[in-house]
Amino acid sequence: MPPYAFFQKEYVPLPEAKIGIMTHAFHYGTACFEGIRGNWNPDDEQLYIFRGREHYKRLVNSCKLLKIELPYSIDELCQMTVDLVRKSEYKEDVYIRPLAYKSTEAFGVRLHDLDDDLLIIVTTFGPYLDVTKGIKCTTSSWRRIDDNMIPPRGKICGLYVNNAFAKTEAVEAGAAEGIMLTSDDYVSEGSGENIFIVNDSRLITPTVNDRILLGITRETVMQLAKDELGIETLERRVDRSELYMAEECFLTGTAAHITPVVAIDNRKIGTGNIGKITGDLQKLYFDVEFGRNRKYIQWCTPVY
Ligand SMILES: Cc1ncc(COP(=O)(O)O)c(C=O)c1O
Repeated sequence: MPPYAFFQKEYVPLPEAKIGIMTHAFHYGTACFEGIRGNWNPDDEQLYIFRGREHYKRLVNSCKLLKIELPYSIDELCQMTVDLVRKSEYKEDVYIRPLAYKSTEAFGVRLHDLDDDLLIIVTTFGPYLDVTKGIKCTTSSWRRIDDNMIPPRGKICGLYVNNAFAKTEAVEAGAAEGIMLTSDDYVSEGSGENIFIVNDSRLITPTVNDRILLGITRETVMQLAKDELGIETLERRVDRSELYMAEECFLTGTAAHITPVVAIDNRKIGTGNIGKITGDLQKLYFDVEFGRNRKYIQWCTPVY
């Protein structure tokens, strides 16, 4: 079976889902998206979609910013996603990309008087960053965009040019990821991940006001740390120098899972190896995400 896409209100084979070159979103970035993982559990012979509801709630909020009204409820969006993955017959790890966009083929910068469409794509997806050895990061020379420019709490396509600047700068400098600072020089986030540091057996992560995407992995990690390891998270502003002095550091994201950070700006973090708390959280998170930890199975929607 070819993979399918949901496009213009129907399920079509992926190669047939094409947009016209005058589509508004293509020219002006007037679209918003989500990234959701489906994780294959071979013991259960099941593909589990992880926290689909929370992703669709966030998509609906991003749509509000762009004046896009989705004609579907959260329940319907979740069900459509299950149907799409099942129809595509995937039995391996997948990445699901819902994207709501201004679909009118017209020029003119605006959000009003335009039609909207929702598409959903599903594709196979390997590791995004190295979760086994940890990664090197740089702090980016590109500042995180402010809430009153393009709100980073919305997952808005046009905004991701800011992230792309940071990512490519980091990779071209020999690192795997760039950490962006806010316009007033506090730590914000990676190009596709939230950031945590560990100090004195406590997690510290930038606040909701530090121009971050409110990550679903971030929230999951804070809950697992508290409920399973008895570790509290302090949400507060973080200075750049605190990164260098942290005992441990890791990034969180749907694509990145929990990715240990072993160096930032050519300074070793902790011992330069994966920290103890990072390792414990990683194991816990993978067990939850793949449906192996039954206590959290309500976060995993079975496809088959
Ligand atoms: C800029 C940015 N920050 C953080 C995240 C992590 O969010 P989540 O854990 O919901 O995937 C992502 C990924 O979606 C992202 O693109």
